[in-house]
Amino acid sequence: MPATLFDLTDKVIAITGATGTLTGSAAGYLASQGARVAYLGRSQAKLDAALAGVLSKHPSAQVLGLVADVADRAALEAARDAILAKWGRIDVLINGAGGNQPGATITPDKTFADLDFAAFHEVMNLNFHGTVLPTLAFLPALLAAAPGASVVNFSSASSTRAISRVVGYSAAKAAVDNFTRWLAADLGRRTQGGVRVNSLVPGFFIGEQNRRLLTQEDGSLTERGQAICRQTSFGRFGEADELHGAIHFLVTEASRFVTGTTVVVDGGFCIDSGV
Ligand SMILES: NC(=O)c1ccc[n+]([C@@H]2O[C@H](COP(=O)([O-])OP(=O)(O)OC[C@H]3O[C@@H](n4cnc5c(N)ncnc54)[C@H](OP(=O)(O)O)[C@@H]3O)[C@@H](O)[C@H]2O)c1
Repeated sequence: MPATLFDLTDKVIAITGATGTLTGSAAGYLASQGARVAYLGRSQAKLDAALAGVLSKHPSAQVLGLVADVADRAALEAARDAILAKWGRIDVLINGAGGNQPGATITPDKTFADLDFAAFHEVMNLNFHGTVLPTLAFLPALLAAAPGASVVNFSSASSTRAISRVVGYSAAKAAVDNFTRWLAADLGRRTQGGVRVNSLVPGFFIGEQNRRLLTQEDGSLTERGQAICRQTSFGRFGEADELHGAIHFLVTEASRFVTGTTVVVDGGFCIDSGV
């Protein structure tokens, strides 16, 4: 039994897409709280930079960087085995890798009929299949670590609300939510709560992918950025560290009776009618 509900000490956590803005911030936070954190990413150079960043702030952080594309099962299994060889267990998988691409969106000058289906497929592959495949690869380790094991899937506010332009990414994140519920029910029964599965819904945060869409070169908001802030009860974008508390909750004993749910961290975007 852990010392406290929120104890992260020595929990082994693997995060895909860990070189990203939100994921990297979450990985650094978890490592700063005593978890042993494996960063999975596609680029060794980006992983090196991310680890150097966290170690410069927290020299005693226990971190590991592993190259693994979420579409590559062999690489994911090799990463899993490397984590097991180093730390002997894996308690948590955070499926953070994800993102959009221009072809899978419908810009104002286009209609759905112009959809680039190949791009749609790629976005589906990254966000949905890229959540299922790492889960498959890591599941044996999570089952071995149960009770107290869990999966956290990064979803999006666009999984439940129609957001203009964003057709492929939204469908993929809706599939992630559905998969979260299915796997939560299945594993909940099989393991009597030993392995939990939840998804995290970040609202709008400015990151590398959407910065040019939401902000002008001088830092002021674009029309779309303003529309998002008007729709968000708090009237602003989120900061990456505002996801830390929800993630901390989902990966610790604090949420031991919580599975198949989506934790929404959006400053009120999803519940506000705008009226
Ligand atoms: N930012 C937001 O406002 C927002 C809102 C809602 C949901 N989300 C979701 O939250 C998660 C994290 O977002 P973020 O802002 O941190 O993303 P980000 O900064 O765009 O980073 C995305 C991460 O995914 C990785 N990645 C992309 N394709 C990959 C692949 N095939 N295999 C392995 N890794 C891959 C990227 O690696 P490379 O660096 O190698 O490309 C990067 O580490 C994503 O799932 C995103 O969809 C974000």
